[in-house]
Amino acid sequence: MLTLEHISFEVQEGSTEKEIIKDLSLTLDDNKFIVITGPNGGGKSTLARLIAGVAKPTSGRIYFDGTDITDASITERANMGISFAFQQPVRFKGVQVIDLLRLAAKKTLSVADACKYLSEVGLCAKDYINREVNASLSGGELKRIEIATVLARGTKLSIFDEPEAGIDLWSFQNLIQVFEKMRGEIHDSSILIISHQERILSIADEIVVIADGEIRNQGPREEILPDLLGTPSAVDVCRSYEGGN
Ligand SMILES: Nc1ncnc2c1ncn2[C@@H]1O[C@H](COP(=O)(O)OP(=O)(O)OP(=O)(O)O)[C@@H](O)[C@H]1O
Ligand SMILES: [Mg+2]
Repeated sequence: MLTLEHISFEVQEGSTEKEIIKDLSLTLDDNKFIVITGPNGGGKSTLARLIAGVAKPTSGRIYFDGTDITDASITERANMGISFAFQQPVRFKGVQVIDLLRLAAKKTLSVADACKYLSEVGLCAKDYINREVNASLSGGELKRIEIATVLARGTKLSIFDEPEAGIDLWSFQNLIQVFEKMRGEIHDSSILIISHQERILSIADEIVVIADGEIRNQGPREEILPDLLGTPSAVDVCRSYEGGN
């Protein structure tokens, strides 16, 4: 379980301080598929970076399974079971795709196993396994390789920042299946996805809406999604029906 307590994150902009995350408190339960959504610039990626340890909050505390991880490094958090796939993945010159997957899995991953992860994200494994993770990979390929590394890690909390970014419509269908499969296999773990996609929102257990550095709405999909889509929820429909409207 992940708990954020009164998290604020400020950056210096010229002579003024800009507050990007504003006194935000949030608890993410185990065994949940949670989707964070909200307008561009609302602070979603910043929040993911704070959870993964890429950035440190200006104030507030972060607890993971009861341990205070506010001051823990990215590596310490990764070892505790938090993994993060960036909105814009990092390229690693001189490192092959298979090396990246083996590093992620932290075990001797056979070529067949590595290929399995690549196939899951819709890449023809044999074409990619020995490719260098450099500028020659397209944005979409890189994004899929990064998702494969998070799958290979199989950690307690997997965070994906806009996994759909740069992925074409055809591959997107496959990607949804990857997430649906992950959702079906959740066991003592949680998946946190930042997304604007209705298809991803529609498989969430819980949806958190973040805007202007604050939580605007949070709850089970059935409650939040109808609001987001601007349609009445099933509950509202039933109520108006019962009322004879
Ligand atoms: N280091 C920084 N310095 C200055 N401003 C920053 C910094 N990091 C983030 N911001 C600003 O904070 C706001 C939130 O950024 P963030 O990337 O978290 O948004 P987001 O919700 O992920 O948006 P999107 O949906 O476009 O990915 C933006 O206005 C961004 O420009
Ligand atoms: Mg973002």
